[in-house]
Amino acid sequence: MALRNDFLWGFATAAAQIEGGGEEQERAAGKGLSIWDWFCEKPGVIRDGAKVNKTCDFYSRWREDLALMASLGVNSYRFSISWPRVIPLGGADDAVCEQGLQFYDDVINECLRLGITPFVTLYHWDLPLELHKRYGGLLNKERFIPDYLRYARLCFERYGDRVKHWLTFNEPWVVAIHGFHNGVMAPGHKSNTEPWVAGHTILVAHAHAAKTYQREYQPSQHGTIGITLNGDWAEPWDQSPENVKAAQDKTDVAIGWFADPVYLGKYPDSMRAMLQDRLPEFTAEELELLKDSSEFYGMNFYTANTVKAGGDDESQGNTIMLFTRPDGSEIGPQSDLDWLRDVPWGFRNMLNYLYKRYGKPIYVTENGYAVRGESSMSAEQAIRDTDRVNYYNGYLGALRAAVEEDGVDVRSYYAWSFIDNFEWASGLIPRFGSVRVDYDTFERTPKDSAYVVSEFFKSQVATG
Ligand code: NOJ
Repeated sequence: MALRNDFLWGFATAAAQIEGGGEEQERAAGKGLSIWDWFCEKPGVIRDGAKVNKTCDFYSRWREDLALMASLGVNSYRFSISWPRVIPLGGADDAVCEQGLQFYDDVINECLRLGITPFVTLYHWDLPLELHKRYGGLLNKERFIPDYLRYARLCFERYGDRVKHWLTFNEPWVVAIHGFHNGVMAPGHKSNTEPWVAGHTILVAHAHAAKTYQREYQPSQHGTIGITLNGDWAEPWDQSPENVKAAQDKTDVAIGWFADPVYLGKYPDSMRAMLQDRLPEFTAEELELLKDSSEFYGMNFYTANTVKAGGDDESQGNTIMLFTRPDGSEIGPQSDLDWLRDVPWGFRNMLNYLYKRYGKPIYVTENGYAVRGESSMSAEQAIRDTDRVNYYNGYLGALRAAVEEDGVDVRSYYAWSFIDNFEWASGLIPRFGSVRVDYDTFERTPKDSAYVVSEFFKSQVATG
């Protein structure tokens, strides 16, 4: 099978990670605070003390950024709409901010003018702070859903004539586990009960938004909607039955927690056995809503690890996660982040696994690499990003093999990320961009990998 003629190639970003040009700018734009603004104020939670309100200033540089992206040969761009930028306090009865709404109109219109298809994420982690204060955000399903639905409707109504690809939520596992289990991300809770509650809210909110879109907007707007999930390839430590089972248990929590209810109609049995009544039950109405609520499989994929039985971390399915093999070798070169190695065969395996298990077309919505030690390099050194070039060459090769040799139906590929940006609790230290950002001047400089992926995109887009 060849790559499709309408394959979407491009870069991905998220609002909170790139837009901010400083507190004053955000205030002048009428933007409300998100839980990340508040989280960043807590001492010690962001590795380098960076603030989410001052990242890459995409808010005032979007035109030149889109022009650069177009020159790199993309035919699509994945970005998110900041909920507190368009509804500053976030609630269903709160006022909208016309300036914020206009900003995304401008970005979308410029994309279309440049021949770039917008692919839009609704929830990429910047919950309006006010909703956290009012009722605990995702911990309160009854109150969260109407607020989220109003936000979703506002976006469908305002942009749906031009945006034909929607994602309801980005990486619910990360939101639930890092936000409510180990507390390294906003809102920073440490709990053994809350993550499963927050995850349940996300699933039901996703289903409501997707069904609302399908019922009320899709008939005239003709777009598609789904959710995007993360999940690393879990390679059993060896072929012993207990380690093979451990790898599946880990995948059940990393992916099945969300994908099984959406595509197969239930939580994985291994999770029910592990969590018992800490894992909420779906009502009959919720199950009906979940059915066919994601029209494709949205896949964020970065890395692989080895997995052994044992361990007591429920976020990993009570398994032990490693980066070595039984012979002591590393599973792949180490990036700037503990969890991220360069393992291209894991990508091919995962594409096959997901296609076989869930049977949906796959949109790869993120894939990328943070070069080890890049933030302490000079600009001249950083733009020679050979490790990132190797990573993209390997993973793009794996993608092609999965499509052309294995017959997996893949419809997009977005490199994470276009520019260096705010990597959440790790601040501005890890750099994921193919374009370097100088955080003093906001100057952009393409790195070697920008030209490598550009050549690849151009050859694909041109030959179709
Ligand atoms: C997943 C997230 O969606 C994105 O926000 C993050 O920066 C990248 N992966 C890299 O960790």
